[in-house]
Amino acid sequence: MILMSVLDKKHIIVAVTGSIAAYKSADLVRQLGTLGAEVRVVMTRGACEFITPMTFQALTGNPVHIDLLDSSAEASMGHIELARWADTILIAPASANTLARLAAGMADDLLTTLCLATSAPLAIAPAMNRLMWQNEATQSNVARLQRRGYNCLGPASGEQACGEVGAGRMLEPAELVDGLSRLLTAASAMKGIKLMVTAGPTYEDIDPVRYIGNRSSGKMGYAVAAAAAHLGADVTLVSGPVALAPPPGVQCKKVRSARDMQRCVLSHIADVDIFIAAAAVADFRPTTFSEQKIKKGESEQLLTLTANPDILRTVADQVDGPFTVGFAAETQAVEQYARSKLVDKKLDMICANRVGGTEGGFESDKNALDLYWQGGGEALPMGKKTLLAEQLLVAVMRRYQYKIKPSN
Ligand code: C5P
Repeated sequence: MILMSVLDKKHIIVAVTGSIAAYKSADLVRQLGTLGAEVRVVMTRGACEFITPMTFQALTGNPVHIDLLDSSAEASMGHIELARWADTILIAPASANTLARLAAGMADDLLTTLCLATSAPLAIAPAMNRLMWQNEATQSNVARLQRRGYNCLGPASGEQACGEVGAGRMLEPAELVDGLSRLLTAASAMKGIKLMVTAGPTYEDIDPVRYIGNRSSGKMGYAVAAAAAHLGADVTLVSGPVALAPPPGVQCKKVRSARDMQRCVLSHIADVDIFIAAAAVADFRPTTFSEQKIKKGESEQLLTLTANPDILRTVADQVDGPFTVGFAAETQAVEQYARSKLVDKKLDMICANRVGGTEGGFESDKNALDLYWQGGGEALPMGKKTLLAEQLLVAVMRRYQYKIKPSN
């Protein structure tokens, strides 16, 4: 059996910027070519001071792209065409200057314009002096890029070209090839899957200034949506009021009340393969909404509540509906309550989290989840919600594939 590399026939743009590590990019391009990738090289003017375009042209067999406004280069493959052609763009080495320009959303040369114009996964391999790397400006630029979906490969620690020792060295070409392979594998793990996730609380209005709702930051649902998009799924996020920015590559629908959320979910549920209900939906709403602000006046007010629709139950009840995953926040007898909810709501999987402890839960960035399904379960240990979301999706995909093809 011949094992094919995930890089085989992939269209990869290696973007080289002005750093001494640019010499390693020649080997990187060669290694990618050996694994069957089709490579095109983009260089900044700064990069040309360190290594010649001729080197890359000889290694790839393709002209090197440098200028945005070069009519002959644009004639061979224009910048928008190049942005569409790419399956991925790896900026290696990524200098502090280029990271700053990308973080600011500039489009003042070919490389930055390409990065704005592409929908392909992007990766950066930073390379710079250790103090430049540690600088708060660089760190916040990288964090900004990561929030926008850029993958950061490295940097490594060790002896630097400037004679100093510390973090800032570009990863070795073989490590970058490995990182890029993982990225492309991950980017297609959920390709073709339509996933819907609900997140955040719902607000049930009492009057124009007051509401009732559940405690929820939306972080878990947003992390699931981001991770699924990262894995190549087509993601719709139906979100109650939260203070989070929608993750890149996700279709986000903002709603307020449980009934809004239900309407939105049901109008977009057709063809959804996997439905993950991470929202902390308010179980009740005030029976009547007061058009005017209720005056303090009396020392006691009676609020009559009406049960809200159970969105998850409605979706799980559908004939030929999606694979359904619910959440259960419990303070005691977690497994017992979670399993009875799994059966009662006819879910495919339930994720239980113990709330009220000292670590994890509602507003925290961390959590631990116990997953249960008919006849099995898996515990995901305390970790960042972003990592937990990925682990959850791996488990969901395994069960989903088992459901549609039990022989697997
Ligand atoms: O029954 P309980 O509210 O504990 O169930 C929690 C699960 O059901 C969560 O996944 C939540 O998103 C979902 N849910 C819902 N609609 C409701 C209440 C809960 O979708 N009205």
